[in-house]
Amino acid sequence: MAYGADGHPVSIRYHPPPMTLKKIAIVPGDGIGPEVIAAGMTILERVKEARKLDLEFVHFNWNADEYLRTGVSMPPGAMDDLRNNYAAIYLGAFGDPRVPDMKHAADILLGMRFQLDLYVNYRPVKLLNDRLTPLKEKGMKDIDFVIFRENTEGAYVGMGGFFRKGTPEEIAVQEDVSTRKGVERIIRHAFEFARKTGRKSVCMSDKSNVMRYGGDLWMRTFEEVAKEYSDIEHFHMFVDALTMQMVRTPELFSVIVTNNMFGDIVTDLGAALQGGLGMAASGNIHPGKVSLFEPIHGSAPKYAGKDVANPIGAILSAGMMLEYLGHPDEADAIEKAVVGAIDADETTHDLGGALGTKAAAEAVLRRLEV
Ligand code: IPM
Ligand code: MN
Repeated sequence: MAYGADGHPVSIRYHPPPMTLKKIAIVPGDGIGPEVIAAGMTILERVKEARKLDLEFVHFNWNADEYLRTGVSMPPGAMDDLRNNYAAIYLGAFGDPRVPDMKHAADILLGMRFQLDLYVNYRPVKLLNDRLTPLKEKGMKDIDFVIFRENTEGAYVGMGGFFRKGTPEEIAVQEDVSTRKGVERIIRHAFEFARKTGRKSVCMSDKSNVMRYGGDLWMRTFEEVAKEYSDIEHFHMFVDALTMQMVRTPELFSVIVTNNMFGDIVTDLGAALQGGLGMAASGNIHPGKVSLFEPIHGSAPKYAGKDVANPIGAILSAGMMLEYLGHPDEADAIEKAVVGAIDADETTHDLGGALGTKAAAEAVLRRLEV
């Protein structure tokens, strides 16, 4: 079991998908995705072998190359196959300069989030070594919280349109959709998580002073759900203030819940607090169903194929996936090995080390006690 800075357990503790599902879809994607996923796979293969885990890894080459070659992002039936026959998806990153509209990324990554109804975007912000944070006088005891980003609605639904496109009178409308069901289930999830992991508070963040409709729904729902969790403190913070407080007083936060777009933005800031985008792991989860695990960084095309990308975000995402599948001790062992490699300065350049992606992953593998 993994423990946070103040001694509380930080296990995901979700209901895993049925144990009869053994297949894990491996989707490396674009740019540095294949390199960091290869690094994560060395860890997963080792854990699988040592602990005799009944998992079957199935590789898929859905990426920009395939899309450009065939015009198809994902073959017909693939989403149903994932939904019905897989326990989890382990994904690298999407984005390629040759596909400027990100069509394949939208089809595949957002497609999975929406069509598999992965409403919980679970993004822990946990500093693993004091020297990694850019914040002066803050350390591991201060930076240890969890952000839950709503993952199936908000500005990401792609509703809207143009009027008089291409003329000086052009109008573009981009809708931000919040449903009672969608808002309630992510807020409830944040409180449940806080209760199950012994965390003290839930902070809901929005911009309800300006977004008077969606924000109002979030505020009302938050207050109503909070009544059922009187053992957990709850407070609200406007998202502009949240960004400031995450930098000035990160120790204020335990669990944060917010909408899709704000969650996207503040989790990049959260990653920076942990040492950079290369460090942060994430889960796109529908409790009890096939769920998707990925580092939060992008495809970073300019670093692709150079063996420089930090594999830690991908490695920790693999750990998070194992935890989701009911193997918290293995996840804990992975985090410990990562911490050991960082403590020994055996890391990639972004963390101040001198290693490439492969060697940094080997440094973790060498320390893995499973
Ligand atoms: C993320 C990414 C994605 C998002 C992009 C690649 C569509 O930034 O997972 O945070 O905006 O959700
Ligand atoms: Mn993002």
